Amino acid sequence: MTPSTAPRRSVLVTGAAGEIGHGLISSMRADDVSIVAMDLREVPDETRKLCDAVHLGDVCDKNFLEHVLTMHETNEIYHLAALLSSRAEHVPETAHDVNVQGTYHLLRLAARLSESWGSRVKFIFPSTIAVYGIRTVEDKMQAGALRENEHLSPITMYGANKLYCESLGRYYSRHYRQVAKGRPEHLLDFRCLRLPGVIAAETRPSGGTSDYVPEMLHAAAKGEDYACFVREDTTIPWMTMPECVEAVLRIAQIDTPPHAVYNIGSFSASAGDFAALIRKYFPEGNITFEPDEGRQALVDSWPRDVDCSSARNDWGFQQKWGLEAAMEEYIVPAIRKHYAPTT
Ligand SMILES: NC(=O)c1ccc[n+]([C@@H]2O[C@H](COP(=O)([O-])OP(=O)(O)OC[C@H]3O[C@@H](n4cnc5c(N)ncnc54)[C@H](O)[C@@H]3O)[C@@H](O)[C@H]2O)c1
Repeated sequence: MTPSTAPRRSVLVTGAAGEIGHGLISSMRADDVSIVAMDLREVPDETRKLCDAVHLGDVCDKNFLEHVLTMHETNEIYHLAALLSSRAEHVPETAHDVNVQGTYHLLRLAARLSESWGSRVKFIFPSTIAVYGIRTVEDKMQAGALRENEHLSPITMYGANKLYCESLGRYYSRHYRQVAKGRPEHLLDFRCLRLPGVIAAETRPSGGTSDYVPEMLHAAAKGEDYACFVREDTTIPWMTMPECVEAVLRIAQIDTPPHAVYNIGSFSASAGDFAALIRKYFPEGNITFEPDEGRQALVDSWPRDVDCSSARNDWGFQQKWGLEAAMEEYIVPAIRKHYAPTT
């Protein structure tokens, strides 16, 4: 890589064709930012037109990543590309390649770039509540809102991948080559948010285990029946896509936070809580519960809620909505607009 002076904000978003990629790029567009998108699949036109460049490729391909990063003089990376929890359980080895090897390649390249630019490349990494692993539903209900360092025994490939990558990111940004002579002066700047289930109105999720709420919503809004794949009492933390995007952009812009990894979330709610509200707004669709044993076990191992006090105290994270307000002010209006007939 050829050294150069630090360029203007030049952002790479991996996994740009996904749900959060769509939300993030739509909110990030500003004159002083150059946005480069990459994904394994085609980036939808709506997102593509907001980007300065789009690359189709695999995060497991080290040479491709190096080519993209150096060509665009990237100094800010939003590494969203991943195989999510349910999908990863079907192809665990591929998930490991994408979620761990892909992240490792990108972290190493970002570390080298930080040295080359003489300034810290930012690396923003969304982790997940799947890094937690609680043994029983009784323990889950008793444990309440988990802090960042509790119950870190994930039972999924996805959770294990993300937990390890949190550690890798912390290592590259704080401890890289700590006993070596000639340790680089400028380490990369890794910042990670552990996200809860994220609910978007404009896009459809796929491959996640918290997909039951968005699936329930989209089905009901179209007047279709939906059989929810977890029990009615299944409870995890949630937030809406606008809140998620705002938090991701905020963690990227603040002065160096004291911790590398932060929990965030807006409210804790059960599948039944959602179903009751959704029936009120969209009574045409019939919601039933037909738990799938495998996927139920994954969600049962995740916390009922997360403790976000570190994010609140260190960088002013604030949730915008509780469940009812999120439905009333964002989810229902946005989903109605999404399905409104075009004239
Ligand atoms: N959406 C959520 O509820 C949620 C919750 C917690 C964490 N996250 C994390 O946020 C990030 C984005 O999630 P999302 O909801 O947008 O997921 P998504 O599945 O909608 O998007 C992921 C994108 O990554 C791409 N991708 C997969 N493998 C790739 C590869 N080998 N090379 C290049 N691109 C590849 C996919 O094509 C997809 O467009 C992920 O890292 C996920 O783990 C999401």
